[in-house]
Amino acid sequence: MTGQANIPVRVARIEQITPMIRRFTLERSDGGTLPGFSGGSHVVVTMRGEERTHHNPYSLMGSPDDKQRYQISVRRDDDGRGGSLFMHQKVAEGDTLEVSPPTNLFALNPLAERHILIAGGIGITPFMAQLHELRRAGADYQMHYAFRDQENAAFRDELEAACGDRLTAYDGSAGQFVQPAQLLGEQPLGTHVYVCGPKGMIEAVNEAAFELGWADSHVHWEEFAAPPVGKPFRVVLQKSGMEITVPGASSVLEALEDAGLQPNCLCRGGVCGECETAVVEGEIEHNDHFLPDDVKQSNSRMMICVSRARSERVVLDL
Ligand code: FES
Repeated sequence: MTGQANIPVRVARIEQITPMIRRFTLERSDGGTLPGFSGGSHVVVTMRGEERTHHNPYSLMGSPDDKQRYQISVRRDDDGRGGSLFMHQKVAEGDTLEVSPPTNLFALNPLAERHILIAGGIGITPFMAQLHELRRAGADYQMHYAFRDQENAAFRDELEAACGDRLTAYDGSAGQFVQPAQLLGEQPLGTHVYVCGPKGMIEAVNEAAFELGWADSHVHWEEFAAPPVGKPFRVVLQKSGMEITVPGASSVLEALEDAGLQPNCLCRGGVCGECETAVVEGEIEHNDHFLPDDVKQSNSRMMICVSRARSERVVLDL
């Protein structure tokens, strides 16, 4: 197991963007510069609460040219596992948090002839940084942004200023929705599409691209799905003999981290494959988008960032 060294950061500014979304500006606690990143990168924010520690990934949304500060936005989820509520209710300007070095699993393809960016709700955040890159490169792009209603149209003014007539906004309360088949059907060869938002939107764009015969390499998507909540279970680490309990609201990964271990991970959303772990014994509830179906059925591997046990106990090759 390896871990990435976290960076202590000071919360320099908090802005209430919509009733549900706050933007946090973070600067290095020691006043130094932050690691560079490219549009689409995320960091994992570590929040040390009294009862538990949260590790949540958030897209970096400021300019990739700015080494003095990172910007993230957090949508409050009252029914979630507590990380977003911690950010909204416990974190104040001047507080210290920790962030991982940036990782990019949703990068722009510089060879694309045109970039079609499709965002739903808080899924706009990775595009905020990508737009800096696209404008700097003089690239051909379109930004399609869907939101529930005007009150929840986060960053609308900033997007209009950045994109001008390259921005198309879709107000769901006015019956306006992205039409993926029509949108993708009118694009020239060499176009890449990028989508970040609710699961249904991501699936609709992927289905439209597939139906139209787009190459997989031209379709990019990102979904920050939180690990599901479930029943507690026991995990035995075969190599060390350690045995830990995974609480209902924690993933195996988080339980291992709480026990002082540093398992490999990047996305924490069941997509990147970094946390793949061999299962020695036990039945798995697979919640990832990474393992092929036959491997899932064999119960021989699991992605410990999102998948849980069906059995009361699993033995992992760790
Ligand atoms: S950390 Fe990416 S799949 Fe688990």
